[in-house]
Formats: sequence, structure tokens, C-alpha cells
Amino acid sequence: MNQPQREERAYTPDESARYRILVEAITDYAVYMLDPSGIVTSWNAGAQRFKGYTNDEIIGQHFSRFYTEEDRERDMPARALSISAREGKFEAEGWRVRKDGTRFWAHVVIDPIRDADGELAGFAKITRDLTERRETQEALRRSEEQLRLLVQGVTDYALFMLNPDGVVTSWNIGAQRIKGYLPDEIIGQHFSRFYTEEDRLSGMPQKALDTAVREGKFEHEGWRVRKDGTRFWSHVIIDPIRSDDGTLLGFAKITRDATERKQTQESLERAREALFQSQKMDAVGQLTGGVAHDFNNLLMAILGSLELLKKRLPDDPNLSRLVDNAMLGARRGAILTQRMLAFARRQELDVQPLELPRLVTGMTELLASSLGPGAEIEIDFPRGLSAVVGDENQVELALLNLCVNARDAMPEGGRISIAAREETMVSGNSLSLRPGHYVCLSVADTGEGMSSETLARATEPFFTTKGVGKGTGLGLSMVHGMAEQMGGLLTLRSRSGEGTTAEIWLPAVGASAPSGAQTLKSTAPTAPPGKLRVLAVDDDRLVLFNTTAMLEDLGHEVVEAGSGAEALTLLEKSGFDMLITDQAMPRMTGLQLLDVVRERWPGLPVILATGYAEIPGGTQVDVPKLGKPFTERELGQALAAARSPA
Ligand SMILES: Nc1ncnc2c1ncn2[C@@H]1O[C@H](COP(=O)(O)OP(=O)(O)OP(=O)(O)O)[C@@H](O)[C@H]1O
Ligand SMILES: [Mg+2]
Repeated sequence: MNQPQREERAYTPDESARYRILVEAITDYAVYMLDPSGIVTSWNAGAQRFKGYTNDEIIGQHFSRFYTEEDRERDMPARALSISAREGKFEAEGWRVRKDGTRFWAHVVIDPIRDADGELAGFAKITRDLTERRETQEALRRSEEQLRLLVQGVTDYALFMLNPDGVVTSWNIGAQRIKGYLPDEIIGQHFSRFYTEEDRLSGMPQKALDTAVREGKFEHEGWRVRKDGTRFWSHVIIDPIRSDDGTLLGFAKITRDATERKQTQESLERAREALFQSQKMDAVGQLTGGVAHDFNNLLMAILGSLELLKKRLPDDPNLSRLVDNAMLGARRGAILTQRMLAFARRQELDVQPLELPRLVTGMTELLASSLGPGAEIEIDFPRGLSAVVGDENQVELALLNLCVNARDAMPEGGRISIAAREETMVSGNSLSLRPGHYVCLSVADTGEGMSSETLARATEPFFTTKGVGKGTGLGLSMVHGMAEQMGGLLTLRSRSGEGTTAEIWLPAVGASAPSGAQTLKSTAPTAPPGKLRVLAVDDDRLVLFNTTAMLEDLGHEVVEAGSGAEALTLLEKSGFDMLITDQAMPRMTGLQLLDVVRERWPGLPVILATGYAEIPGGTQVDVPKLGKPFTERELGQALAAARSPA
């Protein structure tokens, strides 16, 4: 090594004194001298400040005491001096020890001092305390390291960086886990490959970066694609990263897999919606059923009285036209209440095996005349279709309702396809039908279809899009209630502009029939032979009055009772040929009255009048039943049936 060139010149005594004062006053550097062997020969204020020794304590001591134990063992002090002497300078950073034993991080320079002849006269040593700076640097390094470990180790979030063009420049373990790429596979690739085809085509990736740049952040939820092509629902944040002077360095991207959360949320919403819907239908059913029941009684009183009035009126066409008109109105009202009762599943059902092909064929004329010429009807039944269990009149009515709806949806005309198929339902089937064998009767049209809002509400009672006075909104409600009461189901499929398919699922014969009483279908003659003494029981005065009037018109003698208890008292007092009782009465129902009568007056014929299916499931009723509202003719038939039981 070359000896550094030194300027050789002698200092005046004045100058020497000034330099001494200067050196001694410096407090931020320890500046002191060693003799050639390393003994301290001078000491300044800075040295005293951060090494802790006073002049007296240290001058004459060997400088190796500033070194740590380990450094002394490795002979560092002597090596530092010899390097300095040999190379003209020694410079290093390292731990040094204060007088009190504590350590500090020092920057050290040792310069050799030579006399005029070039002989080594000693060393000048300048030490600076860098502890603070080192601590700051160390803290910074540690925090960077921790951050790196943190980012690398996070598995629940994909954390990665993009350059300003959107190319991936870093990749953490979470990104690997969520998206499926190894760092080698993805670093250097453009991040748009995480987007779906649709999003890529619509320029979504670039828009995301632009938004991040413009607004300082981009946040979004949407579908993203894994390496294996599967999709996941992700929550994404993109932050721009800028240098101190504002230049865009790239982007930090944080992605979370929110698929599970989204699914939980969605199924929760679906469950809530389904619950709400079924609660609503239940409530509306209760209400409708209740209203219809009372209405039925009122209509019965009106119809009955009109019928009698007509009989007794003088033969004047003007008068009878008015009565006929009133009766027509009342009958229409009765049909409405029937539909409401059907929706509320309170219909009196006459359940028996039905062959749908025969039933539909028998209806073609009726359909053609009700639907008019615009609709072309196509019927397609497979051979050997199983029979279903249902009420013939109700199924016909349901089919008619569906066909009328189809026609209404095709103002310009179109095709109505009536078809059937069979299917066996296992438990947990998508329609939630009870396991068993079913026949599905479908009515499909080529009409205008329904919007999703209309479809969702179509079976609600009184929901109609046909305008006031045109539709009652009870058609589908009736079909829905009827199908369910028979142990089946109504389903609707439709889209705006794409037609509608309605399906009625009914249990096939052999499958367990729903519990429900059977109405006795009487074929007995209308006219009863001889005058009867009849006890009529009903808690509704209007209905009771009406029944009595009809009975009297038929030539019988009637005694009225307003309750079961009153009926029993009357029965005890005198004899009767016939008991006709309402079923739904407070305190004692018709069936309960029947039980007592069976025991005490076993020979007495009884007729049970019911407004709806209020007879408890499974109960066998072996007396004639009369559905309300009934006509005088039906009453006469029931009387005949009761007197001569099959
Ligand atoms: N085949 C169909 N095509 C398109 N929309 C239909 C169809 N069937 C029913 N809808 C819609 O569902 C609504 C309810 O039908 P629903 O049969 O219950 O009542 P309505 O036909 O309006 O009245 P009503 O049957 O008492 O005459 C209809 O108003 C209509 O908007
Ligand atoms: Mg309708």
C-alpha cells in the first residue's frame, strides 16, 4: 500500500495552541492520541462525554480497554494499529465499551502520526457514537422484515403487487392458496387473467386500475377465476403505490375469497324469503277461508230465499226475470267463495281414482267453447298413464282455469298444449313433494309469459294483472289450494315473452291418498215419500231460517234448534223422523251431536251440513253430507239418501 502523501510543515507555537483548544472543545467526536504502543496520551471533551473517563483516569492507560472482551481476545486493538501503520488508515464500525461497562456502536478512524523522519510517533484516533443511528436502522430493518414475513405468511388474503401496467411482481402464500398459481407461474403475467371472460371483454381490469389511480382506491366484489378455471366470489381492493415525488410505482392488491360468506348470505335470504312467503300464504289462507265461510252462509240464505220466492211468485215474466238475475248473481258469488275455499284448502273433496285422458277428452267441447277460436288446443297423453287420486269436478275446474289463463295470455291466438307424464319422487326431491308416485298434468302456452315479479305473486289470492272487473285473481289460487289439498302441487314456469307452463302434480293411484272425508254422491230420487218431522240445527239464524223454509216447501214439518244442546233437549221431549245439523258450531259440533244421537236414538236418520272441509282428517262419516250452499233439490236428495242408507 502507498503511504498517503502528507503535507510536511511546522506549526508555530501559536497555531499549536489554537489547535489544542479546538480539539479539546469538540464534544461530538472523541478525538485523542495514542503512542505507538497504544497508550492514551491525550483526551478531549467528546471522548470524556461518550466514553465516560476523565483525563486523569485514562491518560497512560492502554486503549484496548475500549474494546469488548471478544474483540480483545481476537487481538483487534493491535490489529487496528498495525493496519493503520501499514496502510495509513484504519476505519471500522463496531461495538465499544464505556467506563460503566455499557456498549455503544462506534465509527472509528485511526490515523498514524509520523515525525519529520517518517518514524511512527503515535496515532490519532477519532471515534463517533453511532448507537442512535444504528438503532434506527435496525428498527427499520426489523420492521421491514416483519412486514415481509407478515405479507408472505398471510394465507387468508391474496396480497400481491402489480407494476403500473398491471403485471404481477410479487405473490404471497394466500394468493397461491386462493388463486392456485405458484409464484413462478404468475410473476410476470398480467393480472387480467384473474378476471372472468365477460369482465375481461368489458375492459374491467384496466378500469379497476384507472379507478385506483384516479380515486386513490378501487374496491369491489365480483367473480374471479382460479388457475383451474373455477370461479370464486371475491372482495378486492387495489391501492396505487407512489414514490415520494408522486410517480406511480405500481399497485398493491388485496383479494379475499368471500364465496362462503356469499353462499351463506344467499341461502339465508332464500330461507327467509320462503318462510315469509309461506307465512303470508298461511295468513291469507286463514283470512280467505274465514271470509269465504261466512259468505257461503250468506249466499246460501240469499239463494234459498230467492228459490222459494220464485216458486211463490205469480207467473209474471217481468218479476221472474228479476229473481233469475238475482239468483245468477248469487250463484256467481257462490262460485267465487268456492274458489276461495279451494285456495284455503277447505274445499269439500270427492276424492276418487281419475283417468286424466278420459277427463280431458270429456272436456274438449267445453274447452273449445270457453276459449274461443283463437286458441288451438293440442292434447298429448302417453299410453297407459296411471290414474290419479282427485276430485273430478275440481280437477276439471283447475284445468279450465289454466286454459283460460293461457288463452288470456295469447290475445293474438296461439297454441295450448295439454300433456301428462309420470314421475316417482324420492324424499328430498326438488319440489318438496312427499315421496311417492305422481302424475304431472301440464298446460303450456305460447303466450306473453310473466315477468319474475308476476310469477312470484301469481298464486296469491286476488293477485291479477287483468284489471278491475276482468280477473278476480283467484284462478291460480284455486288450482294451487286444490292441488295441495289433494296431496299434490302446482308449479309455474314462465318468462316474459316466452310463454308459460303450469303443472299440476297429483298422487297416482296406489300412492297414499290425502286424508279427507268423501262426500256421499247421492243418486236417490228427489221426491221424498211422505211428510217428515225434521229437527234442524244451526247456530246461524239466517241459514237456519233458510233450511227451514226449504224443508217446509218440500212439505215437511220443522222444529229449529240453535245449538247441539238445544237439539238434545228437543229430542228428549218429542220424537223426530230426521235430524239435519250443521257441523261447525261452537261448544258442540255436528259430529259430537251425532255421537250422542247414535247412542240414544240409534234409528234416527241424520244429515250433516258442512260449509267446508272442517271434518277432522281420518274421521269416517257414514251419514249423508250436504255441502253448503245447497239448493232445495240437493236437500231433497240428501233427505232421501238418509232415509234409505245404502
Ligand atoms: N298462462 C299465463 N300466461 C301469462 N300470465 C299468466 C298466465 N297465467 C296466469 N298469469 C298471470 O297470473 C295472474 C294471476 O292469475 P289468476 O288465474 O290467479 O288470476 P286471473 O287470471 O288474473 O283472474 P281470474 O282467474 O280470476 O279470472 C294473471 O293476472 C296473470 O298476470
Ligand atoms: Mg285466471
